[in-house]
Amino acid sequence: MKHDLMTGSFPLVSALQEGLNKTLFGASASAVESLHADYGDEYLSDFERSLGLLKKAFPQNTFPDWAVRGFQRLGSTILREEVAFKQTGQYSAGIEELQTLKDDFYSNPDVMEGYYLVGLYCTYFLWPHHYELLKFYRKSFLYPPHDPQGLVMEWGPGHGLLSVEALGMWKESPALLIDLSPQSLRFSEAVLGASGADSRVETRLEDVLAAGALPRASRIICGELLEHVPDPQALIGRVKASLEPGGLAFLTGAINAPQPDHIFLFRSEEELLRLVEDGGLSVRAHLTVRHPSRAGDEKPPEVTAMVVGHGD
Ligand SMILES: C[S@@+](CC[C@H](N)C(=O)[O-])C[C@H]1O[C@@H](n2cnc3c(N)ncnc32)[C@H](O)[C@@H]1O
Repeated sequence: MKHDLMTGSFPLVSALQEGLNKTLFGASASAVESLHADYGDEYLSDFERSLGLLKKAFPQNTFPDWAVRGFQRLGSTILREEVAFKQTGQYSAGIEELQTLKDDFYSNPDVMEGYYLVGLYCTYFLWPHHYELLKFYRKSFLYPPHDPQGLVMEWGPGHGLLSVEALGMWKESPALLIDLSPQSLRFSEAVLGASGADSRVETRLEDVLAAGALPRASRIICGELLEHVPDPQALIGRVKASLEPGGLAFLTGAINAPQPDHIFLFRSEEELLRLVEDGGLSVRAHLTVRHPSRAGDEKPPEVTAMVVGHGD
């Protein structure tokens, strides 16, 4: 790849890459090159468009510094957790820490707006396995591109990227986003606003497990939430109860993947697939991915994505 060509056509990607190269996360800057080699210019356009949304949504934040710092801080937080996990075999927080996480993490602007949400957003284009997941989401859940009849719900949208993708494909669908973090909802609203889909979106600030009656939806998006809740089986129960007949849900779950806000430790893909099937849902497609740098680990952090429907 010619660097000058890239600078001309993809200035935001190029600026981010340059910023990352000055940090300890320079390896992620070279991930841009290997992803470009694997997926061609489509990947660069994809990343450029998504960074454009970020920049438009948060004009007050300096780009690329904010994104570089966010990605770097998220990465170093995860590395610290991974070191501890190797020693203890447990996540640093457990179910009993949930209230503290709600008070000090999910509603803390320094964490959520400072690094977590922007960092996580960027991982979808800087971690090769997250980009693979995004492509699986598009191919196996969003296609065919005609609107599903009925409501689209996203639980735990965080940065809102998955809803941006869904509502960009399904141009008429209304959506309801539920998250217990006010910063997550604000971030999602801003990114959806930048994409032009905000007029179709409602938000609810709630713990999805504690929420009262939820509407029925024809599509439910629930990315990286199962490991954040004390009772993943109850979350699967809510998915089943909220999914219209013939509806589909997209779920992802992290396995052996320590982060400060992960409280439920899944140890294998089988465990996640069983959880879903035991909850009366059927898995129509699934994919498990891991970061290439962890490929040789005995118990590498992984993510399993699943497209599920009613089992009966
Ligand atoms: C790791 S982020 C997931 C972001 C995005 N869905 C993704 O897949 O990348 C987890 C999000 O879930 C939210 N969350 C955690 N527990 C929740 C709960 N019980 N109910 C609603 N939202 C929750 C957090 O505030 C955060 O925004």
